[in-house]
Amino acid sequence: MSKKFYITTPIYYPSDKLHIGHSYTTVAADAMARYKRMQGYETMFLTGTDEHGQKIETKANNKGVTPKQYVDEVVAGIKELWKLMNISNDRFIRTTDDYHEAAVQKIFKELYDRGDIYKGHYEGHYCTPCEAFWTETQLVDGKCPDCGGEVHLDKEEAYFFRLSKYADRLVEYYEAHPDFIQPVSRKNEMINNFIKPGLEDLCVSRTSFSWGVPVDFDPGHVVYVWVDALSNYITAMGYGSDNQADYEKFWPADVHLVGKEIVRFHTIIWPAMLMALDLPLPKQVFGHGWLLLQGGKMSKSKGNVVDPVVLCERYGVDAIRYFLLREIPFGSDGVFTNEALIHRINSDLANDLGNLVSRTAAMVGKYFGGQLPADQLAGDFDDDLIALATATKAEVEKNMDTLQFSTALTELWKLVSRTNKYIDETAPWALAKEEANAPRLARVLYNLCESLRMISIMLTPFLPATAEAIGKGLNASADILTWESLDTFGLLPHDSVITKGDVLFPRIDMEKELAELEAAKPAPKEEKKEENVVTLAQIGIEDFAKVELRVAKVTACEPIKKAKKLLKLTLDDGTDTPRTVASGIALYYTPEQLIGHNVIVVANLKPATLCGVESQGMILAADNGETVTVLFADDVAPGSKVR
Ligand code: MSP
Repeated sequence: MSKKFYITTPIYYPSDKLHIGHSYTTVAADAMARYKRMQGYETMFLTGTDEHGQKIETKANNKGVTPKQYVDEVVAGIKELWKLMNISNDRFIRTTDDYHEAAVQKIFKELYDRGDIYKGHYEGHYCTPCEAFWTETQLVDGKCPDCGGEVHLDKEEAYFFRLSKYADRLVEYYEAHPDFIQPVSRKNEMINNFIKPGLEDLCVSRTSFSWGVPVDFDPGHVVYVWVDALSNYITAMGYGSDNQADYEKFWPADVHLVGKEIVRFHTIIWPAMLMALDLPLPKQVFGHGWLLLQGGKMSKSKGNVVDPVVLCERYGVDAIRYFLLREIPFGSDGVFTNEALIHRINSDLANDLGNLVSRTAAMVGKYFGGQLPADQLAGDFDDDLIALATATKAEVEKNMDTLQFSTALTELWKLVSRTNKYIDETAPWALAKEEANAPRLARVLYNLCESLRMISIMLTPFLPATAEAIGKGLNASADILTWESLDTFGLLPHDSVITKGDVLFPRIDMEKELAELEAAKPAPKEEKKEENVVTLAQIGIEDFAKVELRVAKVTACEPIKKAKKLLKLTLDDGTDTPRTVASGIALYYTPEQLIGHNVIVVANLKPATLCGVESQGMILAADNGETVTVLFADDVAPGSKVR
């Protein structure tokens, strides 16, 4: 039986443009799919778009187009982006595709017939202008999290999925399949934060908007979000259609790659749905971390710095792919900065790899006119280089098999460095001085080329275009650029013709580049500013004096269960008693970005309980309508008064 591998990314919301954080999951999935294909797996790599819902309907209305017209345009851009980034997906699903909609209707009906979907009422805080229901925890200061307006309690007829029924089976499944949720820490988070406190049945239909898959047996209802979206992983394989061949072949998926905020949906709702349908569960859900910007979450409103098209055009697709895969251990959060990107390009790509390729080709050109002589002589340092070159394959495999892209690249770069060191050790320029050394010089250069052949093969999943360029320069035939060929050092013909290609990664002048980027920053949007300036009634100094502001050090910080926007901070405010504050900044900061920093706390605010945490005050942060920035006071001692 042939080996099969099925990998998915989440399906993306086509809400305007994607930013570089969105490319993170897709580039990782692409590297994995390419790696598996090279290993001889029949691979299915699926990505797509999640096109229904109220937000899209509202956006389209605001633009004066139909929702379908709106998504068609945005989705075309997303497809273009993946083409630009050399994403090798085998299939692209749109939740507006007819076959998907038909299959979702069947799934919904099947769940209803089995008694796992029932009709009830959805109750929540309703925001009239946004036409959206919010739960208590989603509200920000009791107001709509989208528009900041007033909400009122309301009720709507809706269908529910009996999620609560599956709690025990889910935990049993996690325990019996320790690899199901990765990294492992996310499994504990699911159990402790969501399953143990009690699963509630899930609302799976809406009547307040119409941009969704209609519930065919109850007009007026559309299927709501997750049943529609999650089903894509099987409907894309033909589940629920006349031709289920691919479903039979590829399901269950080997891995769903998802960002950490949607692990919950993939490891609780999705498996429960599959259990209800009596279908096998995916083998693994891997929740990766976020790519953050300094001082906050990424959003497209941050402009060009996070636009993947701009970044790829400026630095090259492979440089961006390298940065995404190398900079952040897969699973952790990481910060994207231009400095870090340029540093990686200069040191790892231009210096280590680029120089190795160009020096090797230049030396073959200079000493042998571009063609290696077949008469060659082995010598010192060869065995060491050959040993590492042949051992690297196993190291890369070990890390790729656990989705540790960054470590896989680190292992590969050890070979790049070792090969560079081999040049220093063998000093070809010294050998070239004596005609009699020609056979030794030929073997040294041959070994360099052979090492580059192996590097290019292992580089292919990560940087496909660069790997291809290196292979071309070596004039290596396809049969010696396969994954299996990594087992043997010495496959390149001894008399190979080596061509010097273009510089792979030009060095970037850091200072000049940063200055240019700064100058190219879009001017802040004036209208937006005005929109955000709220003019309140004037107050006297005596009113302001009633507010006690104090500098405090963040000594501990953690997320709050069930409240995705809140962080719980423990503060040292200069008194002997630690102070607890719940702050709505979880979308903009990770706990690690706060711990050890000094903030300003409103110390005499009446305590309030937010999601089960008694908050003793609030910390000051600036909100420009797009992002929230905590006002740090790192140079000031905790306890100092702010006036
Ligand atoms: N439509 C849902 C997924 C449904 S899957 C059945 C969705 N879409 S999304 O467009 O908001 O996000 C798609 C993916 O991009 C998610 O995995 C998300 O975590 C990822 N990212 C979005 N911003 C990100 C960063 N800044 N960093 C890393 N990944 C990020 O959620």
